Amino acid sequence: MEYLRIRGGRALQGSVTIPGAKNSLLPIMAASVLCEKPVTLYNLPDLSDLHTSLDILRGIGWGAEYIDGRVDLFPASRLRARVPKRAAGAMRSSVFYLAPLLHRAKRVELPATGGCRLGARPIDIHLEGLVKMGAIARTENDLLILEAPGGLHGTRFALRYPSVGATETLMMAAVLAKGRTCLSGAACEPEIEDLARFLNSCGARITGAGSPRICITGVERLEGARHTVIPDRIVAATIIAAVAAAGGSAVLREVCPEHLEGVCTVFRRMGMKIARLDLTTLSVRMDGRPRAQAKLETGPYPAFPTDAAPLAAAALLKADGRSLICDHVFENRFACAGGFAQLGARASRQGRCARIWGVPHYPGGQALAQDLRGGAALVCAALAADGESRIGGLCYLRRGYAGLEEMLSGLGADICLREE
Ligand code: UD1
Repeated sequence: MEYLRIRGGRALQGSVTIPGAKNSLLPIMAASVLCEKPVTLYNLPDLSDLHTSLDILRGIGWGAEYIDGRVDLFPASRLRARVPKRAAGAMRSSVFYLAPLLHRAKRVELPATGGCRLGARPIDIHLEGLVKMGAIARTENDLLILEAPGGLHGTRFALRYPSVGATETLMMAAVLAKGRTCLSGAACEPEIEDLARFLNSCGARITGAGSPRICITGVERLEGARHTVIPDRIVAATIIAAVAAAGGSAVLREVCPEHLEGVCTVFRRMGMKIARLDLTTLSVRMDGRPRAQAKLETGPYPAFPTDAAPLAAAALLKADGRSLICDHVFENRFACAGGFAQLGARASRQGRCARIWGVPHYPGGQALAQDLRGGAALVCAALAADGESRIGGLCYLRRGYAGLEEMLSGLGADICLREE
């Protein structure tokens, strides 16, 4: 089994370049299926979720090549309507193929989807919206089947929760629907704007993405496009958390500082010095122990992101007092609290919250990642420990980080990949 061996207690220093966002590239790769011409995407890190998406695209008949951070996608000559079972089971983002296949194949069959076990993660809002646009949905054994024999039509739809995925699904459904669709209560995450930017460059007519009200006028067809995905704000948050936990400083290049405001607000409260050096560069520095936080809470963008909650928790393990951090998005966000305790830190999970008793030192130990961001949080916690740690469960980390160990060793961390 592979694990990361981390010898903690070294302050970090140096610079890192932040790669393209996983949460942008996954819906955009799926949205390419709406296009009638080739699509090229740039700034794509080598993530296992990206390869799962390539497997889905090839499985439904598209040509797909990945080389040097770039994906070239070629339309299928014969489109298959079923998402391959193994790929669906490996990644929850396989739901992004529902709307594109429904348009292009008039039918989609989606086997049970996998992904991080952060909670129940229903897709009822996606389905409600699609049904309102004319889809007929049923399940057969483990297969979700949607059909739209007469095509999809525009509608008004109010999301009862600003789900990122549902907003993206419904935008994809609306771009080729007959007539106009207006979504209210939509999610405002930057990755939604990026998807809209991609679709508009293919010929779609979307306005308002990035705000709670998005309107889309359906068009007859979409061409292809060349598109560069936005920087990954959660990878940037991971580096910020690593510096907050271990101390030291770092320069983050190729970021969108405005996407990181919610994250920076929280880490500044912990005592970090964060400065914007230019349009795409941030510098972060942490001297001494982080300040404890009586209560940190997550929420939809632009609030502090749920994905960064375990990372902030890791930084608070050495804080100067007790902290509480609560996630209101996913019920199982803090599975990593048990791992923090295995590293010798004092943390426990209480429902949707993690309670942390900051200590000046903890020894390190062995812990297993149970989900993507929780795994990254364990890595941050191990960097701040006094001794050696082993972090396993790397399959989760590989879903969202390409070469995290190289990034961190570039900052002077003693981290390497081992196998036993
Ligand atoms: C996306 C991100 C994920 C991030 C999350 C919240 C991607 C690929 N993943 O996930 O990293 O943590 O946004 O910022 O972009 N919900 C329903 N019904 C639905 C859909 C969602 O009840 O139909 C609930 C979910 O169970 C969850 C909450 O809404 O409690 C938020 O989910 P959502 O915003 O949809 O997250 P994802 O799109 O899955």
